[in-house]
Amino acid sequence: MMDFERLQKTSGIIGRSDAVRQVLEMITQVAPVDISVLVTGESGTGKEVVAKAIHKFSKRSQEELVTVNCGAIPEGIIESELFGHKKGAYTGAGDDRKGYFESAHKGTIFLDEIGEMPYETQVKLLRVLESGEFMRVGDSKTLRTDVRVIAATNKDLAKLVENGKFRQDLYFRLKTVTVEVPTLRNRLEDLHLLVERFALEFTRSNDIPYRGFVPEAIRMMKHHDWPGNVRELKNFVESILVLEKGERITAEMVETRLGHVRTSPTQNLPMVMNQSPEQAERELILRQLLLLRQDVEWVKSMLAGRNPMTVNESEIPVYTSEIQPEVSRVPVAQNFDDYIQSGTIGDINLKDLEKEALERTLKYFNNSRRAAAKSLGMSERTLYRKIEEYGLEPKIKRRKKNDD
Ligand SMILES: Nc1ncnc2c1ncn2[C@@H]1O[C@H](COP(=O)(O)OP(=O)(O)OP(=O)(O)O)[C@@H](O)[C@H]1O
Ligand SMILES: [Mg+2]
Repeated sequence: MMDFERLQKTSGIIGRSDAVRQVLEMITQVAPVDISVLVTGESGTGKEVVAKAIHKFSKRSQEELVTVNCGAIPEGIIESELFGHKKGAYTGAGDDRKGYFESAHKGTIFLDEIGEMPYETQVKLLRVLESGEFMRVGDSKTLRTDVRVIAATNKDLAKLVENGKFRQDLYFRLKTVTVEVPTLRNRLEDLHLLVERFALEFTRSNDIPYRGFVPEAIRMMKHHDWPGNVRELKNFVESILVLEKGERITAEMVETRLGHVRTSPTQNLPMVMNQSPEQAERELILRQLLLLRQDVEWVKSMLAGRNPMTVNESEIPVYTSEIQPEVSRVPVAQNFDDYIQSGTIGDINLKDLEKEALERTLKYFNNSRRAAAKSLGMSERTLYRKIEEYGLEPKIKRRKKNDD
């Protein structure tokens, strides 16, 4: 049996609260046993950190951990990505190809955002879970793999089952061993430890002098809701250290900066923070233009005779006030001209603008694709497609996620 200290040191899981201790205890119990695990918790709570720790402390630690973001792979190719395909299985399937389940043989597969897995694919996943058996797409030969499955979600799977979006049998199979990662607001006693660690790491690697946070500043931070959990806290700490340029961080500084964080119950993430008015304005303009571009694309596809009913729902731009709190819904055409003529943007085309908006948004959200997609009002799938289209990150599909 390993001790918590070692587990914390190697996994990077910070915290001394009971809530964190429970998670650590679960990891120590579950990791060495070869069973599938479901990791649940809100966005930014550390589900991926937990999944990695489970792999690291398992008997498979010397083998690969293959990470698959089920929400990011287009539905049409997800089965071939997971299980591979036979040459000629469909147009473009030029060669036999291994899927993740074959690549992960002897190791662990981390199925992130399992709630996004298409319903028809779920039955195949259940089969692998129960018997290790699967077939490549277009092949009738049964193959076997020895893979441990860790799945994660921030969705309420029980509700998805109720709504017919998630198979009940798979749900029962997965939920047997569930690790619930607590929200930051439920473990505020860990906040100062997290702040210290993030501040030290950040200032050290960026050569910024670090003079600490006054206790009152920490207290002030505990009053915030942290809907984006540890990820939001980390971003906040890093940005305040940059903006206050090596000063000791006071309660006033925290109040000012946190006061700029706007959140709403349906909107899980802060929108504009720590920006000069000009910066904020430019960001909004870019976002607005991006949304316009999506609109144009959609209209174009309609005009091109594509039945709008077959347009993927997620492709349709959404302008609800929950998603874009400070971008009010405005008559599109007029504003478009206004912005273009204002001279703020200069002589760049929409594609460049879109690329820039994507880059900035990703950077702003510390490369959290979910947060960026939400902020941009597009589905994660669409965002991934665009990231690929613009070559913003060359290896999304098969990357081993160590970089979030
Ligand atoms: N207990 C913790 N100790 C140290 N760092 C943590 C902890 N929990 C989360 N983090 C950090 O917070 C960030 C978010 O964590 P992670 O990506 O694991 O969240 P997540 O639950 O998978 O979020 P999402 O649902 O958005 O994918 C990462 O930078 C991670 O290193
Ligand atoms: Mg995650």
